[in-house]
Amino acid sequence: MLISPSILSADFANLQAELDLISTADWAHVDVMDNHFVPNLTLGLPIVEALLKVSPIPLDCHLMIDDPDRWAPPYAEAGAKSVTFHIEAVKDPVATARAIRAAGARAAMAVKPGTPFEPYADLLPELDMVLVMTVEPGFGGQSFMADQMPKVRAVREAVSRHGGDIWIQVDGGVSAKTIEQCAEAGADVFVAGSAVYGAADAIEAISTLRQLATSHAH
Ligand code: DX5
Ligand code: ZN
Repeated sequence: MLISPSILSADFANLQAELDLISTADWAHVDVMDNHFVPNLTLGLPIVEALLKVSPIPLDCHLMIDDPDRWAPPYAEAGAKSVTFHIEAVKDPVATARAIRAAGARAAMAVKPGTPFEPYADLLPELDMVLVMTVEPGFGGQSFMADQMPKVRAVREAVSRHGGDIWIQVDGGVSAKTIEQCAEAGADVFVAGSAVYGAADAIEAISTLRQLATSHAH
């Protein structure tokens, strides 16, 4: 069970301090948005490279960008622990996942709420994680989409059939109220932005999320 707070909800003027605030988490989730794949613009490779130099925990880069075939491998080369591309944006998922792994990172595929998983199940051998979005990508602080839980279950079943150490991540609206159903459905990596950075005590919020996830493990 991994907790990956999203720095999308952090103070962008103080990112080093904001990373230090979540040093008890497993990963720091970095939302890269290009204003093309999603209608929002955040940060890119130069800032991720700077964050990698100071972060107390590994970086989990979620690329909500066009042409991840070209842009995803450099995040792995820079030292990100996990690099996630969107299946709706990638042209050659096999080559992209292999390039991410060759650069030493875990390779992950994300699916938007409207995108089914089944057509891509044969990509599992190339992947270390599947990200099931529980909001439309683009913004923090949106409402959790419980209707994505059947998809989490379907990915968990496919992973069990396939075998191997493939993780399932949920991202969007994950909080103390919604994390249990995600864990029960089979998720094991939990992104939380507003639920951690909006809390009075981020360390306590991380610890509560981890306890709830662990006690409701699939
Ligand atoms: C949304 C991002 C999420 C976002 C989650 O496009 O991918 O990572 O930061 O924020 P919360 O947890 O507030 O929904
Ligand atoms: Zn994200």
